[in-house]
Amino acid sequence: MRQHVNPLSQFFQLPLSLPSKSLIFKDSYYPIHIDIGSAKGEFLIQLALKHPNWNFLGLEIREPLVISSERKRKKLELENLKFLYCNVNVSLDEWLSDLDYDQLKRVSIQFPDPWFKRKHIKRRVVKNSLINSIARHISKEGELFIQSDILRLVESMVNVIDKSTYFNRKYVKGLKWLNKNPYEASTDRELFVLHKNLPVYRAMYTRNETPLVK
Ligand SMILES: C[S@@+](CC[C@H](N)C(=O)[O-])C[C@H]1O[C@@H](n2cnc3c(N)ncnc32)[C@H](O)[C@@H]1O
Repeated sequence: MRQHVNPLSQFFQLPLSLPSKSLIFKDSYYPIHIDIGSAKGEFLIQLALKHPNWNFLGLEIREPLVISSERKRKKLELENLKFLYCNVNVSLDEWLSDLDYDQLKRVSIQFPDPWFKRKHIKRRVVKNSLINSIARHISKEGELFIQSDILRLVESMVNVIDKSTYFNRKYVKGLKWLNKNPYEASTDRELFVLHKNLPVYRAMYTRNETPLVK
């Protein structure tokens, strides 16, 4: 499988109409946690097993990963979890517009592709438009969690989120970076990095006022 895909290529810029929440979740009114760049899906599978009264949506631009995550989900008969294929920068906003007021409670963006080269920075997933879209639809006090093992990348995400002014950063014990994942689950990349004893930089934000739209 290709390591990265170019999200700016014409193919990935075509908007996809994602199935509505009532088609993908059994109890579609439950609070929602979206994981952006869900890859093999293990993080959300762990959470969906632990929290049957929440709905979990994993979004991923590499379709083969979505197919294999869905296979695992079906085997476990999880009806509070769904993996969908899309470029979140193109197709997420429309899906969010269909949610009930106050329903989107958590968004996580974990170890996103770094796209180091200067000419590739535009390919990064965390952009003003994505953060503003999340801000428009997430509930008051809703959580936006980010983490990465690459300091330069996490700082660039922090800059974008801070610039939006819709989120307050939460500091625990005055530490600049949270020292653990707050969600009782870990991503594959997180486990890989921790196994190598390398640092992980984590930040939690909460929505600081009532949503702008709705
Ligand atoms: C480095 S991987 C990390 C995967 C997982 N979050 C983890 O921590 O193990 C980043 C994932 O984000 C996906 N991704 C990158 N850009 C995306 C986009 N615009 N929309 C949806 N998924 C995207 C990639 O295909 C990849 O699977």
